[in-house]
Amino acid sequence: MDKMGLSSNKLKTLFVVCCIVFPFALTATLKFKNSSITFFEGFSQNKVLGSETTQKNVTTRGSVQNTTHENSAGTTKNNNTVSEVLQREIQNDRDPIEERTTARDNTASEIGLINAPLTSSSNSSSSDSIHDDQEKLLDGLLASGFDEASCISRLQSHLYRKVSPHKPSRYLISKLRNYEELHRRCGPNTIAYNKSMAYIENSKNNNGDGTMCKYLVFSPANGLGNRIISMAATFLYAILTNRVLLVRFGEDMHGLFCEPFLNSTWTLPNNSPFWNQEHVETYDTILDKDKANNSKHDSPSALFLNHQFTKGNPEKFFHCDHIQDLLRNVPLLILQTDQYFVPSLFMIQSFNLEINKMFPQKDTVFYHLAHYLYHPSNEAWRQITTFYQTYLAKFDEIIGIQIRVFRPDITSNQAIIDLVLNCTIENKLLPKLVTQNSVSYIQNHTRKAILVTSLSPNYGENLRAMYQNKQSISGEVIEVYQPSHEEKQKFGDNMHNMKAWTEMYLLSLSDILVTSSLSTFGYVAQGFGGLKPWILVKPHKKKPNSAACKQDFSSEPCFHYPPMHECNGKFQKHFSSSFPYLWECKDSHSGVKLISRQRSVVRNSIFANKNMYKISKHMK
Ligand SMILES: *[C@@H]1O[C@H](CO)[C@@H](O)[C@H](O)[C@H]1NC(C)=O
Ligand SMILES: *[C@@H]1O[C@H](CO)[C@@H](O)[C@H](O)[C@H]1NC(C)=O
Ligand SMILES: *[C@@H]1O[C@H](CO)[C@@H](O)[C@H](O)[C@H]1NC(C)=O
Ligand SMILES: *[C@@H]1O[C@H](CO)[C@@H](O)[C@H](O)[C@H]1NC(C)=O
Ligand SMILES: *[C@@H]1O[C@H](CO)[C@@H](O)[C@H](O)[C@H]1NC(C)=O
Ligand SMILES: *[C@@H]1O[C@H](CO)[C@@H](O)[C@H](O)[C@H]1NC(C)=O
Repeated sequence: MDKMGLSSNKLKTLFVVCCIVFPFALTATLKFKNSSITFFEGFSQNKVLGSETTQKNVTTRGSVQNTTHENSAGTTKNNNTVSEVLQREIQNDRDPIEERTTARDNTASEIGLINAPLTSSSNSSSSDSIHDDQEKLLDGLLASGFDEASCISRLQSHLYRKVSPHKPSRYLISKLRNYEELHRRCGPNTIAYNKSMAYIENSKNNNGDGTMCKYLVFSPANGLGNRIISMAATFLYAILTNRVLLVRFGEDMHGLFCEPFLNSTWTLPNNSPFWNQEHVETYDTILDKDKANNSKHDSPSALFLNHQFTKGNPEKFFHCDHIQDLLRNVPLLILQTDQYFVPSLFMIQSFNLEINKMFPQKDTVFYHLAHYLYHPSNEAWRQITTFYQTYLAKFDEIIGIQIRVFRPDITSNQAIIDLVLNCTIENKLLPKLVTQNSVSYIQNHTRKAILVTSLSPNYGENLRAMYQNKQSISGEVIEVYQPSHEEKQKFGDNMHNMKAWTEMYLLSLSDILVTSSLSTFGYVAQGFGGLKPWILVKPHKKKPNSAACKQDFSSEPCFHYPPMHECNGKFQKHFSSSFPYLWECKDSHSGVKLISRQRSVVRNSIFANKNMYKISKHMK
């Protein structure tokens, strides 16, 4: 590629971007407390423009990273469930853009968001020339044609990440374009929507009008982390079943995300009767009919599936083709879930071909779906980018530490700090501190930021005091930042969700991530960032001399309650891990998650490195 041409193109991109980014950065009010830790006051208070507006270098880190190709040939070699034909297709499906190894070479910092002219009269409307920039559209994952100003993050997010080694398959891209068309045709405010809904509302049973649109209404439950991972799974289910995804967001979910679908909305219209499910048949009735061998009867026109799983009540037969056959005839499904049930979709025979072709690399399902679906709203993006540029951009490395204490009653603060330090120092994620016996005169200009997210301010304050008062053995400069501390998880609170969302996003921009066991907050950050996190063990379960953390083998979220029944009803405790590409989660023995390589391959590598993985007792 012509070098000059490339850089002038980049220059244009950056010029435009600066004009969008800078005004936000400059209007930020950043109050520095004199206390031991810097908290980000956020934008709820930005009306009190301080006398001392901090203006820091605005830069994104664009370190070069080698692009590792998704080797779909290797990953599908032993998969008996995928036909040879499909394997070839998957192999051939590799997009030419995957071959492009040019990393995002220091774009931002090189040419300098820093030195960008502030007095520019240019604005986002002038960016037509870079319209089809592959990077902006995440290698074709995103559709073009959106109004940029209404969702700045959609086209800017790539500036904040290293070049992604994970490219969407061409098949996934075509499925997404098809889905968008379906959504435009059948979504709210269309004739097709009105007709289909009139039919669904007025007929008790569906007698099968083939031209009708079908819908999947997502009903959120639990905290924001659960909502984000389960909504991604629901979207994939919608694509696989040709349904239009509609969401039932309450007040607390407003203003977090941009509309994901061009020229349409994903919000269930206010006047829909399906905002509640009082008169809607439930999934259990379908199961009963199925049991009674009565399934040839008319299916209902709407059905409510409660997939908020609990321990003794894992997903019942949803992963079975005969149930999917029944659900297929129901034009409107309301799905209430808080789980990342994508592994179940991989178990369904009739989806097998499609899903494998969409995701040749299995551990990037959430990564691609999330980057497609979740774009921070302009308000969220302003908070994310301002925090990033003010505090984090200048560092060579960001270490994200997500602390979630599920049992504060039996866990002391010190136990958590010890756990974090043991994990980060033992695994050389952070340098040791100088003690009286080990003086260091090494000068090292590597600068590392620790980004702490926690409901409590203690951990950030503690770490900050440590690194402020003592030098690190390596001489590296370590600084600690914690954006907020909400004290406790709040449900149904929009501001709380906004903070949680910006923190998950900021964490996902880390180079190294340390997370807490079982936390869906951490799952979102790791999945978005494509990071394999170091998972802290549950503090009250840590035995002396055992490891404080273990590195995960996949950035996919864990499905905590996978099916425990085969489709013939046979109970099997760890049934789902007998599927290829599914593996027991490191932080949940009953949970499963997707991995890039088939299990047999992983198992060999486990034998090769005994310390790394513990082999499951449940494995066949
Ligand atoms: C962009 O700039 C042009 C003039 O240069 C102006 O007419 C237009 O309103 C601006 N658009 C936005 C979104 O600021
Ligand atoms: C759909 O129905 C609503 C009333 O329920 C009406 O306001 C709207 O104009 C209709 N849309 C179309 C495209 O027919
Ligand atoms: C979306 O809407 C805009 C403005 O109405 C229109 O110009 C554009 O063609 C639409 N895009 C698609 C793909 O329908
Ligand atoms: C269910 O019905 C089918 C025919 O419709 C029959 O072949 C099958 O044996 C029945 N199963 C049970 C358990 O009754
Ligand atoms: C600084 O420390 C880092 C390890 O964090 C090391 O990779 C680097 O080589 C060191 N640089 C110098 C100049 O010692
Ligand atoms: C971490 O904990 C292990 C086991 O308790 C201990 O052997 C090791 O020295 C600790 N490492 C650090 C860096 O504190």
